[in-house]
Amino acid sequence: MYHLFKSSFACSVISTFLFSILLSAALSGCDSQKSGQKNTHPRHDRIETKGDMVAQLTSPPNVPAPVGNRPAKKLKVEMEIIEKEAELSDGVDYVFWTFGGTVPGSFIRGRVGDEVEFTLRNHPDNKLPHNIDLHAVTGQGGGAEASFVAPGHEKVFAFKLINPGLYVYHCATAPVGMHIANGMYGLILVEPEGGLPPVDREYYVMQGDFYTKGENGDRGLQPFDMQKAVDEDADYVVFNGRVGALTGDKALTAKVGETVRLFVGNGGPNLVSSFHVIGEIFDQVHVEGGGVVNDNVQTTLIPAGGAAIVDFRVEVPSTLILVDHSIFRAFNKGALGMLKVEGEKNEKVFSGEILEGIYRPEGNVIQEIEPDSAEAKPVKSTPLTKAEKIKVGKLIYDKSCFACHQPEGQGLPNAFPPLAKSDYLNADVDRAIKAVIHGLSGEITVNGEKYKSVMPAQVLTDEEAANVLTYIYNSWGNNGTEVSAEQVSKVRKQ
Ligand code: CU
Repeated sequence: MYHLFKSSFACSVISTFLFSILLSAALSGCDSQKSGQKNTHPRHDRIETKGDMVAQLTSPPNVPAPVGNRPAKKLKVEMEIIEKEAELSDGVDYVFWTFGGTVPGSFIRGRVGDEVEFTLRNHPDNKLPHNIDLHAVTGQGGGAEASFVAPGHEKVFAFKLINPGLYVYHCATAPVGMHIANGMYGLILVEPEGGLPPVDREYYVMQGDFYTKGENGDRGLQPFDMQKAVDEDADYVVFNGRVGALTGDKALTAKVGETVRLFVGNGGPNLVSSFHVIGEIFDQVHVEGGGVVNDNVQTTLIPAGGAAIVDFRVEVPSTLILVDHSIFRAFNKGALGMLKVEGEKNEKVFSGEILEGIYRPEGNVIQEIEPDSAEAKPVKSTPLTKAEKIKVGKLIYDKSCFACHQPEGQGLPNAFPPLAKSDYLNADVDRAIKAVIHGLSGEITVNGEKYKSVMPAQVLTDEEAANVLTYIYNSWGNNGTEVSAEQVSKVRKQ
């Protein structure tokens, strides 16, 4: 017993001795360890300003001109809060609360050392008090308390930009989550001394998640749903405040050979974005909007209340697709944008299709996707006019059909039959309905050409199937048939 005690005592004495040697080595040891513990961050709070200017604010997807070589200044920022009704998706309205009338709010651009005098105005027609918390601010609440402002009032506060980077700003009035969910967020860029390296094009893209009383696609004015927001059960995940803000004729543009910079933010309120551009690799990413630059990135994570600066050169003509790579959000909830690149092909970088052949090891089996879930959905009650059916049907077409049958219904030779001027469709409506709701396989002849591809059954309600077919029948030289939900229901029961 004594020996045991003695040896363990000796042991602890030795280990204490060793520990104290190690500890003193760590504390007073090599210089690199010393400097690693010291905050060597530059004292940007000491930068002197020279002159003053009014900040140019821009609506998304545009950004103000770069700061370039200008000295730090007193920078006046004037922002107006506007509560307004606008479209969240085609036929879906929402009451947005905005900084500057847009979601995301106006883009603010300054440089390190600038002293910002910020005026926040709350329009007299607004119903609620608001404020602003800028993540670029060093100070109480990021300015939230100092800027708390009732409708019909304005508040002025000032701060110095002492950390370069891309920062989110947002409303922080209770209930904070609700103010952010309604669109109260935007970006403020603090450029380093001398500015960011110049590029050919810069754009402003910001993701946000939305929570509505109705389901995704339910038409009319949709109120905010607090419970869904608490449950993080988003109906819409979008770029720049609405489904389709950056698609079709609103797509971003660039020319082959140009350098593109995206200032990408995520307002949340809940979801983290896996930001990705289909068909491109990010040459450089300012991770989390800060000073670390990562090279050759496929997907960059953008936290709620965070941002990233993404740079890349576009080498070949294509339509690049901006997505949240949590991919159901992109194709089912709206987190999808486009960057159209025009210019000369470069077949060394990308050849396009070289050869197309038939390969079908599994045979012609209909691939059915959740066959019962469509029938479980109730038929919606409000009848639509033919024009409304066509409008709504186009949305469904753009989501479910265009990838195979192509944007103008022209189809793809040897693979997917055309829907434009289609004798197969125009001859028999019930047959067309059957193809949509049950799928189609085996050889068919369309406009004299034989097709043997397999069309999967589509998960659509009777009304959705009727609308998409009405759109197809009233497009591209087809016979103008109007399909009703009842017709679809009848065919479904056959
Ligand atoms: Cu607010």
